[in-house]
Amino acid sequence: MSIPENLQRGNFGSRLGFILAAAGSAIGLGNIWRFPYTAGQNGGGAFVLVYLACVILIGIPVMLGELSIGRATQRNPVGAFRVLAPGSAWPLVGALGVITGFGILAFYSVVAGWTVGYLYKAFMGQFGGDVTAEQSAAIFTEMIASPSAALLLTAIFLLLTVLVVRRGVSGGIEAAARVLMPVFFVLLLVLTLRAISLPGAMEGVRFMIDFDFSKITGAVAMSALGQALFSLSLGMGAMITFGSYLPRREGLAFSGVSVVFSDTLIALLAGFMIFPALFATGGDPTAGPGLVFVTMPTIFHSLPAGQLFGVAFYALLGIAALTSTISLLEVVVAYLVDQRNWNRNMACWVVGGLCFVLAVPSALGNGASNFWSGGEGSWLAMDFLSLQNIIWGNYSLSIGAILICLFVGWRWRVRASLEEIQTNGEPVPMFGLYGPLIRFICPLAVAAVLVFIIVTRQYF
Ligand code: PHE
Repeated sequence: MSIPENLQRGNFGSRLGFILAAAGSAIGLGNIWRFPYTAGQNGGGAFVLVYLACVILIGIPVMLGELSIGRATQRNPVGAFRVLAPGSAWPLVGALGVITGFGILAFYSVVAGWTVGYLYKAFMGQFGGDVTAEQSAAIFTEMIASPSAALLLTAIFLLLTVLVVRRGVSGGIEAAARVLMPVFFVLLLVLTLRAISLPGAMEGVRFMIDFDFSKITGAVAMSALGQALFSLSLGMGAMITFGSYLPRREGLAFSGVSVVFSDTLIALLAGFMIFPALFATGGDPTAGPGLVFVTMPTIFHSLPAGQLFGVAFYALLGIAALTSTISLLEVVVAYLVDQRNWNRNMACWVVGGLCFVLAVPSALGNGASNFWSGGEGSWLAMDFLSLQNIIWGNYSLSIGAILICLFVGWRWRVRASLEEIQTNGEPVPMFGLYGPLIRFICPLAVAAVLVFIIVTRQYF
């Protein structure tokens, strides 16, 4: 398909640049914040096993499906479905993705704001001494319950995101991701080695690898599936958008699988960093969203130059989160610019501003406001941030993933998608599995989990 001149878009400079930028989208709070606490709440090893199965059986095919849709059409998610299925309802799948991106950005930026707060704390030497688990928990609770801190930090993070996305894809995103992702990886490795060597750490390692099948329930499967999609930035068109910036000559299989592999590696590393440190200090794995924030300060002081490690950790985590929020905002902005002819700058400011409005209840829902925190007398089933996390992060992405699979498998057709994946003649190992996976196994598996959840009413 030839692309009209006016729709030619900024391309990534190289395959490595693309992989790092897409990995930058995938790697973020999903790996370091969401994965460990969700694993902790869902029994550890059993969850990890289902998560890995979801990554391989569902993550890889959906990743290749999304990238191929994006690259074939060179459009944002809505435009992409319009090109491939004109006059149909399929563009609504893209619209769901745009809305989901907005929904995720609105709570994600609150947690990303916490990393900025912690960067400040680490910089000021607040974690320098021997911080006990209780002290660490108190520091965290105090920060997130302060309305001014929570709102200010969220605003700072959204502002940073807007400032990068304004400049367009290859300028901001690629340049940042290129250098910082590898640095982050090395730092995580060092911290993981340190955590594992703490006295009492082995219990945490065991927690991660104790594959107890009897612990797998519908809720565990749903959380693992949602986590796999969330962590890989799948089910909402982020990878369609990234694929649209990829030059034609590149095959997609190697890039797509590299992103899946590096994202999963980082999540596992985070697990092997957090749980040993947690068990070594006698913490509770089911602590919830505060888990990483409470656990990490307890290991910095045990390192030489602990303060430096603390500062580096939060700075890099913040940047990893930023490369993810950039991709979330980019999906919404690309839609407004391409489909609605908005000016990029204006789209960034308007979406960023609206996002802040939706982020307010999530920012205040961690102790600042009883109602939004789901406290006594509030009719919210849980705090607003957790609720958003489940609605957009688990349900919306799962539904999006089913629809994307059905689209590739039954409407656009597997052959067309595979041709796009293999443009450079790069052989795709086991490509015979792609068709059956994307047509039957992925949509059925995701649908089965959703139906099971509804039947057993284990919604959360
Ligand atoms: N994958 C990102 C993370 O793990 C979050 C994200 C989800 C980004 C969906 C884009 C789209 O932090």
